[in-house]
Amino acid sequence: MRRDKHLVWNYPDAQALDVEGKRVAIIGGTGGIGRALSRHLALLGADVVVVGQTFRDAGVPGIAFIQADLSLMREAKRVAAELPTETLDMVIFTTGIFAAPERQETAEGIERDLAVSFLNRLVILHAIAPKLGTKRPSSSGKPRVFLMGYPGAGQVGKPDDLNAEKSYKVMPAHMNTVAGNEMLVLDAAKRYPNATFFGLNPGPIKTNIRDNLLGKNTLKSRVVEALIGLMMPSANVYAMRIAPLLLTPDIEGHSGAMFNNKGQAILPSRGLTDEHIRRFMAASQALVIRTGISDSAS
Ligand SMILES: NC(=O)c1ccc[n+]([C@@H]2O[C@H](COP(=O)([O-])OP(=O)(O)OC[C@H]3O[C@@H](n4cnc5c(N)ncnc54)[C@H](OP(=O)(O)O)[C@@H]3O)[C@@H](O)[C@H]2O)c1
Repeated sequence: MRRDKHLVWNYPDAQALDVEGKRVAIIGGTGGIGRALSRHLALLGADVVVVGQTFRDAGVPGIAFIQADLSLMREAKRVAAELPTETLDMVIFTTGIFAAPERQETAEGIERDLAVSFLNRLVILHAIAPKLGTKRPSSSGKPRVFLMGYPGAGQVGKPDDLNAEKSYKVMPAHMNTVAGNEMLVLDAAKRYPNATFFGLNPGPIKTNIRDNLLGKNTLKSRVVEALIGLMMPSANVYAMRIAPLLLTPDIEGHSGAMFNNKGQAILPSRGLTDEHIRRFMAASQALVIRTGISDSAS
């Protein structure tokens, strides 16, 4: 990953963080890193709504829940309609899985990793971006959208076989989601000047993200996650480290920027030209339309 030395932000004092009363939606905030972020931001005084399949924070002050299976684009569309979009200050996308050893397909005919880790984000983002934060006080700054993935790692994806119908391999399938999320940031930064969009690369963190690949609670999974747990920061430590970045005024004018696991700015992947992004987005929107729902940006 290449650092972007031109974009530097100052760590605000924890007490100086302007969080009280901020309205935040975390799509994928029921587990792993999204959950750590939702609990941390709620503790600091934010009003958080999390979207996921299983709510694990009932009774935690400041956290509300919308249940959804985001492998389905029609569910993504419903979530977009249910979110309090006009009053949101910030949206964080953390929903994700890892591609399975054999190709899995959703009831809507989409390769499952692509659906859960990328395509539903595109549907939700395109539906909410134009009216995001429009009913907040004008002094609040632009609303912010953070997309978590693995930006800056050089992945460009395969727009010609996005749904992995011609051939399926685990890593290329997952890399379509990695590339897609990075391109969604770059594309949205141009498409929606009313809001700001950022990519987050948390690096390896011990969570459930690899269950679909390694098998839940298998020996392989326990060994891999234990090693990651030993060597890398926990989801809670990462959440505390990254919260000041989410809130600092210093990134206001840098829509489209990406950040590594320490919150340092990194450069986008080489190869993500305007033409490549246009092709990838067109292929993604065509897949959404194939599921029978409309894409708000088409
Ligand atoms: N952990 C890492 O090593 C790592 C490394 C690089 C990038 N990332 C990125 O970080 C982000 C968060 O990953 P994580 O590690 O926190 O993963 P995680 O612990 O597996 O959490 C994933 C979240 O996605 C939700 N989710 C999964 N399938 C869903 C579905 N069908 N419908 C609705 N929600 C669903 C889960 O909700 P439920 O539990 O309620 O189903 C959970 O809230 C992802 O974008 C991932 O690509 C993680």
